[in-house]
Parts: sequence; C-alpha cells; structure tokens
Amino acid sequence: MKYYSIGEVSEILKIKTHVLRYWEREVPFLGPQKSKSGRRIYTNRDVQLLFRFKYLTQIKKYTVQGARQKIWDDMRGTKSSAAVKIMELRTELVDILSKLRNRRSKNMERELKDSMLSIGQGHLFDYWDKRDKLKRDKLIGDLEKLDVSLLGVLTQRLGKKESNTLTFKPVGYVSIEESRKDKEALNLGKEFISSGKTAFLTVAGGQGSRLGFNGPKGTFKISPVRRVSLFQIFAEKLFSANRIYSTDIPWLIMTSRANYDETVDYFKKMNYFGLDSKSIHFFKQGMLPSLYPDGRLVLSEDGGIFQNPNGHGGVIKALHDSGIMLFLTKNGIEEIFYFQVDNPLVQVPDPLFLGIHLKRESEMSSKVIKKAFPEEKLGTIGLINGKPGVIEYSDLDKDTMYSRGTDGNLLFNQGSIAVHILNVGFLNGIKKNLPFHFARKKVKTLKPTEEGADLREEEVIKFEMFIFDAVPEAKNPVFFETERREEFAPLKNKTGIDSITTCLAGQIEKYSGWLEAAGVEVPRDNDNKPVYPVEISPVFALDREILITRKGELPAKIKKETLFA
Ligand code: UTP
Repeated sequence: MKYYSIGEVSEILKIKTHVLRYWEREVPFLGPQKSKSGRRIYTNRDVQLLFRFKYLTQIKKYTVQGARQKIWDDMRGTKSSAAVKIMELRTELVDILSKLRNRRSKNMERELKDSMLSIGQGHLFDYWDKRDKLKRDKLIGDLEKLDVSLLGVLTQRLGKKESNTLTFKPVGYVSIEESRKDKEALNLGKEFISSGKTAFLTVAGGQGSRLGFNGPKGTFKISPVRRVSLFQIFAEKLFSANRIYSTDIPWLIMTSRANYDETVDYFKKMNYFGLDSKSIHFFKQGMLPSLYPDGRLVLSEDGGIFQNPNGHGGVIKALHDSGIMLFLTKNGIEEIFYFQVDNPLVQVPDPLFLGIHLKRESEMSSKVIKKAFPEEKLGTIGLINGKPGVIEYSDLDKDTMYSRGTDGNLLFNQGSIAVHILNVGFLNGIKKNLPFHFARKKVKTLKPTEEGADLREEEVIKFEMFIFDAVPEAKNPVFFETERREEFAPLKNKTGIDSITTCLAGQIEKYSGWLEAAGVEVPRDNDNKPVYPVEISPVFALDREILITRKGELPAKIKKETLFA
C-alpha cells in the first residue's frame, strides 16, 4: 500500500501542514496512523477523506463541525452508489498524481544536481542518499524557486567593500524652529489627510532577535500603565485619526513569511482593535538566501535553503508583488506614513511633516533627531557622493563622525529615526531591489554526513535591504527635524540601550511632558524623572495640542500611576 507523508499530502491537497494538523485536532477521524517514530503516515483513504473535507469546508462553505457531521453521516452508510463511485475515482486520481510526481521529481533532481554543480553549489547534494526524503524534497522545492541571477548578484556583492568609494558631505534639513512657524504647511497637511489620500504603513517583518521575544514584536505589551501591545498603540492612533479627520485611513502591515499567520491571528483575536478589518491589509515580504563567506548556499534545519527576511527595504518590492500598490493607486492614496513596529512614540499621522513634504514636492521625506553623541548608532544624514541620503553608522569613519564646522557644531549631527513619508507615484517607479547590505550572523544549519545530517551553529552572511537607500532615488527629499522626547523610544533590546526599560521611560516622559504643557503638576525625582508612570491613550489625546484642549478633564497634580483613556 502507498503511504504519504504530511508534506506530500499538503502538496497534493494544496493545504498547509498546520491546517492539516488543525483539522486533525478538531476532527480526530481525519488523523492518519503514526509510525513508530511518531510520523504521520497517510493512506489513500485518509487522503480521500481529506479531499472531501476540503471540498465541504472550502467550496461548500461548511463549518469544520458541519463538515465533520456530514462525513460522519456519509460513512454511516447513507451515501449513494454514485458517491461511492466518485470516492473510488478520487482514490485512483491520487495514485496517478503521485506516480506522475515521482517520475517528474527524479528527472528534476538530476537536472538540479547538475546545474548546481556547474555553479559551484554541488555541496548541497553531499551524502544525498543518506538524507531523509522530507529534507531532500524541501531542498528540491527551494532550488526550483531559487533566482539564480539574484544569487549571482549576492555573491558578487560579497566581494565588494561597501564604503570605500563613498564621499560624505553635510546636508541641509528643516529645523524644528523652521517647521513650527509654517502654519500653511500644517493646514495643507490636515486637509490632505481629511481628503483620504494617505495610508499608514508598518514594517513588522523583523526577527526581533535582540529582544528575544517569542512572537511578532508588534504583539509585545509595552505601554506603561495598561501594558497594551505595540500594535494596539498604533491601532488607537489610527482610530483617533479617523475620528479627527473624518476619514478611513488604510493600514498596510508588512510581515515576514514566518510571522504572518501569528500577526493576522493576533489582530483577529483582538477584534482588529475596533477598526474596520477591511481597512487593514497584511502582506508578506520576500526572503534572501544567506551564504557562507565563500559564496556557497547554506542548508537550513529543515533541509531547504537557508533564507532570511529581505530587510525593511524589501517593503517596496513586497508592495508591488502583493498587489497593494495597485490597491493604493485605485483608491487614490498618494502619500504613505511609513514607520517601524518597534517605536511606540511615532507621531502618526503628522500633518505638519506631511505639509512640508507636500510643499517641497518631495517624493520621500524622513524624520531626523539630534544625535545624543557622535558615536550614537543611528543612520546619519548627509550627501553621499553628492546625493542626499542616510549613511549607515558602520560606514561613518571617525574623521567624518567627529568633524565640526566653523561654528563648532558637529557637521554630521542628525540621525534618521526610520519614520518616512513615501509618495505612491515614486514607489510605482521603483520596482527593483534596493542595494544589498550584509552582516555576519550565527545561525543553526544542516551539515550532511555519512549518517544523514547534523545540526550545527555556524556564522553565515545575511543580506538585507534598507528603506533609507530609497532616499537618493527620490526627487527633492526632505529631512525634517523632530524632538527625540516626542518621537523616538525604540524597543530593540531586552536590557540596556533601546530596551524595555528605556522604551517605557520614553513613553512616561513624553506623556508627562504633555501633561505639564496642559498645566498639570507632574512630580519628578532628583534626576528630573517623573515619579509615577502615566499613560495617555491615543484615543484620549492623539497629540499634545488635543490634550491641552481637554485641560478641564485633567487633575491638578499626578499623585499616583495614572491612565488617561
Ligand atoms: P531591526 O533592524 O531592528 O531588526 O528592524 P529586527 O529584525 O526587528 O530586530 P533584530 O535585529 O533581529 O533584533 C527595524 C524594523 O524593520 C522591520 C522590523 O520589524 C522593525 O520594525 N523589519 C526588519 C522588517 O519588517 N523586515 C526585515 O526583514 C527586517
């Protein structure tokens, strides 16, 4: 009798393995027998039952329990002879499909092996016959999808130094003093938001390895009093903005392939935080293969090609590939507020920032803050080979970093906080990948051996694209200065710099400052830090000015931990 693995059944039915496991949990009679080692082994009859289950739930729209009942009834003898015939035919079909697949895969295996050998990637097939079938199938599947020309670009990239041909000069920016005076820009921005031509874009595909949190970073609970998640904080900003501007701003959320399901499920579980689920658009970013320093591909734990999410710069390609660009164009969205998932202080939407961006006919604008000290690890703005751009901190040599102008001020003193406005027309014109950066990273890899395969920890080269590399491509890019206290407290690490503690403190400081501006007394300690945690939900006040208008509802003094919601 022919048996199928869960991977094969998944491929035959075009149903993800986790869905198969879920069905099995809900409907135990769909579960196959297990081998001694605990592996699922499906018979033709199991596959046939699953076909029927898929048909009932996906085509006939039965609920899982409804489909379970229906099949149960059929199996208890109420099925007609026609139905029996159809079931038998299906069984034959499964057999034929599987035979065809086997023949095809034998040829493909040989072809792939030869072509990989010819481009110096023959090691992928070391001890091929000793490797288990699932792992071999995974590799074949990945190699079929591999973009060989991209692999060529990445290996070439390994050979080049990133910064040795670059020249850096200081670049101008719109200072806080200058933008605050511009009432015309503020009104322009407000009108534009009200006209429904903007969207939010959150990049949330990172691996969050430094934070060491097991789950999408956006689900991390970080507000100082309620301990609501980053996603909830952004959702409340959006909710509030929709109310203030009488509009319905779409929210685009980029995830990685690995955290997509968990992110979407989280939003469902949280009932989309009261937002219209149709205005939230999740999409997945692409992946890039990692390489050994000599350019060879790396095998991952599951036997496939080791890949990592392609960086926040992958967002442009992902917007195109997912069809979101088309949606934006069709719906008259012209400008996008881009922000990262790890900064709860981000001020979105920001009408003044948008107004300046529009007035200057900029295609991409970026918020910057004064660096706390010259070595601070922020991308620094400057003219790179004569074009405005963001210099990665690792590219900034010591001389440039410490150089001062005639007034004694640092020449390279403004850092990007990864908050941008992106023009949709501009993004439509960039279909290609941005430049590739690379870094070394320790990862778990698979090493084929005489006995099968071992898992090892090895250093590999991980490639990524960065969104700020789009700045030099934009017409009239604007750098817009803002205050660190108002807009920047990223959550990167568990402890130390940019950690849970500093992110919480940053929020408390921002909200305390707003309360003080509204005339509330906020007790502070000897280090001038607020004594009590305070939190202002964006639904209560989206910005400082709105809080001031609600003065009458505020206490004279903060006397304990306080929430304004
Ligand atoms: P980081 O550069 O801080 O990376 O991402 P990270 O993956 O979240 O964290 P570490 O380095 O593993 O600790 C900055 C922002 O860019 C997003 C992240 O989700 C975060 O919002 N990002 C990063 C992506 O969307 N995709 C990526 O491939 C990388």
